[in-house]
Amino acid sequence: MTNSQRTVLPDSVRTNGATHNPWWDDAVVYQIYPRSFQDSNGDGMGDLRGIERRLPYLASLGVDVLWLSPVYKSPQCDNGYDIADYEKIDPRFGTMADMDRLLAAAHHYGLRVIMDLVVNHTSDEHPWFQASRDKNDPHADWYWWRPARPGHTPGSPGAEPNRWGGSFGGSAWTYDPRRGEYYLHTFSKKQPDLNWENPQVRQAVYRMMNWWMDRGIDGFRMDVITLISKFVDRNGRLPGEAGSLIKDLPAGEEGYSSPWPFSMDGPRLDEYLKEMRKAVFSGRDGYMTVGEGQGISPARNAAITDPNNHELDMLFLFDHVDCDQDGAKWNIEPLRLTRLKKALDGEQKAVGGKGWASLYFDNHDQPRSVSRWGDDRSPAARTRSAKALALLMHMHRGTPYIYQGEELGMTNAHFTRLDQYRDIESINAFHQRVEVAHVQSAASMMRSLAKVGRDNSRTPMQWDDSTYAGFEEADAVDDGGKAPWISVNPNKDEINAEAELHDPDSVFNFYRRLIALRHTDPVVSAGDFHLLDPSDEHVYDFTRTLGQSQIITVVNVSGSPARIPTQASDLLRRADTRDRDTRLLISTDTQERLRHGIRTGVLDPWMAFSLETRLPKEA
Ligand code: GLC
Repeated sequence: MTNSQRTVLPDSVRTNGATHNPWWDDAVVYQIYPRSFQDSNGDGMGDLRGIERRLPYLASLGVDVLWLSPVYKSPQCDNGYDIADYEKIDPRFGTMADMDRLLAAAHHYGLRVIMDLVVNHTSDEHPWFQASRDKNDPHADWYWWRPARPGHTPGSPGAEPNRWGGSFGGSAWTYDPRRGEYYLHTFSKKQPDLNWENPQVRQAVYRMMNWWMDRGIDGFRMDVITLISKFVDRNGRLPGEAGSLIKDLPAGEEGYSSPWPFSMDGPRLDEYLKEMRKAVFSGRDGYMTVGEGQGISPARNAAITDPNNHELDMLFLFDHVDCDQDGAKWNIEPLRLTRLKKALDGEQKAVGGKGWASLYFDNHDQPRSVSRWGDDRSPAARTRSAKALALLMHMHRGTPYIYQGEELGMTNAHFTRLDQYRDIESINAFHQRVEVAHVQSAASMMRSLAKVGRDNSRTPMQWDDSTYAGFEEADAVDDGGKAPWISVNPNKDEINAEAELHDPDSVFNFYRRLIALRHTDPVVSAGDFHLLDPSDEHVYDFTRTLGQSQIITVVNVSGSPARIPTQASDLLRRADTRDRDTRLLISTDTQERLRHGIRTGVLDPWMAFSLETRLPKEA
C-alpha cells in the first residue's frame, strides 16, 4: 500500500498524548524467526538471504515492519538469545554484507526493520563476560558476581548465594572456579545477567545500539527489558543473600525460589529507559521501540508508553496470553473466555487515555493460537478459528504483531517424543519436573509440551508442499541439503503459502484484509475501545468509536453455535435500522450466512465479523 492510500488523522488522535502521530500509528509488524523462515543454502538453518528472497511475499501481505529475532554471533544455546558479539552476524545466518543488503532491500519495499536487542544478559562466550571472570579486569563488575554462602565450600550444593532458580532449570547461580565466585543467570547458565547498576555497562549497550541505528535499522524489540533493574537492599545485596535486608520467596514446587519478583519492573527501570531514550534516540526520527514487558501491569504500561515520559513506544504485556495457566507455565487449563476478556479489557482500558498497546497472540515463545484456543482438528475448523482469532485481535486498538506462519493458520507441531524438541526451556523443564523434582509425570509433561512448548511455533515456515515445505529450496534438497534443524510439520501438504495465496478464502487473504483495514479505516487504528458483554463465555464482543463512526465486532470463540449476547444484539438491532449507514467491514462468512446469524441471534461456530455504522448525532 502506498502512503497516499493511507488515511491521515489529525495529530494526537491515534496515540494519546503524542504531539505528533508517530509513523507507526497504523502499522502492522511481522515477526521473523530467522532460523525457521527460509534457508537459502541448504544447511538446514534459515538465513538472511532467505529472508531477502521472501520480501515480495511480505510486501504482498501488506505489513509495514519486520522484527528479526536475533541473528548476532551466538553459540545458540537459546537460539540466539545468548549473544557473543552484538556487532557480528552469526555465520549460520550469513554475513554483515547480507544484513546490509537485506536492510536496503526491505527499505526498497517500504518495509522497516527492527532488531532484537538482548541486553538483560549476554552469552557466557561474550568477551565482556570472559574478561569479567578476572577480578582485576576493568569488566570485573559488569555481571552479578557473588561469593559462596558463608560457611559453605564454594561450588558445593547449597553454597549458592541465594535460593533463586534459573528459568531454564536448576539454580540461577553458577560457580566459576576461575573467579572463585558465582554469577547470576535468570535464564540458562550460558546467559549471565549484565549488571545494569554499572554505568559502564549501560554506556556500552547504548554505544552498540547507536552503532546499529547508524547502520540503518529502524528500532528495536527489547528482550526481557523489564528485568534489567534488580531489587537490591541499601548495601547492594540481592534478596536472600547472606546479610540481605530483603528476604527471598519460599522455594516453589521445583525446589527453587523465583528471582522474577525481584527483577521485573525494578526500581530503576524508568531511569534506565529514559537514559537509553536520550542516549540512543534523541535527534532520530522514523524509529520504533517495543519492549518485552514481563511484570508490567496495564497501568505501568500506560506510564512507560506515555510519549511524555520518553521511555518506550510500546510493550508486550502477558496477562492475556497467560490466562490459561494455573500458576506455572506447564499447568494449563482450558481457556475461559471471560478471563481473556478481562485481561485484554484491562490492557486496553489502561491506555485509553495515554500510552499505547501491542496486540499479539503468537510469537516464538508462545504456542500457535489456532491450536491453543482455536481448533486445528479439521481443515474447516482450523481455517474458521484462525480467522476468528485474527479478527478478534486485530480489531483492538494498538499495534498488531503477526508471527511468521500465523497468517497461514499454521498449527502446533504435535510432537510426541522428547527427542523431537530442540528448545532448551522445554527439554530442561521435562528433566527438571519429571526426573528431578517429580512434580509431573512424563506423560502429563509431554502433553504440556505439546500444548504450550515453544517449539510449537518454531517449526519451518510452510511455503509449499515439497519435502521441506519450501523452507529449503528444491535444488538444495536435491544437492543433498541437510534436513531442517527442527522437523517440518507434516500438515504442510494442506497448510502452505502457495496454496493460500491463490485461495480468496484463505487465512492469508483474510489477514491481508485485516491489515488493509487498519491502513485505511481510522476507526480501526484510532477508535476508542469498549468491551460489550464481559460475562459471556462464548462470544467476544466490543466496539471501537471515533467521532460518529462505530465499529461493532462480534466473535464466536467456540466450535458450537452461540447466542449473540444482549449488549451486542441491541447494538446490532439499532445498526440494522440505520441500514444505509451500516456496512460490513470483514467477516468469516458470506453476507447471507451472517444476516441469518444476526437475524436469528445465533452465530455459527467460529463466526466473526465487524460492522461499521454511523451513530445518530445525539448519541
Ligand atoms: C525472551 C525471549 C525468549 C528468550 C528469553 C531469554 O523471553 O523472547 O525467547 O528465551 O527472553 O533471552
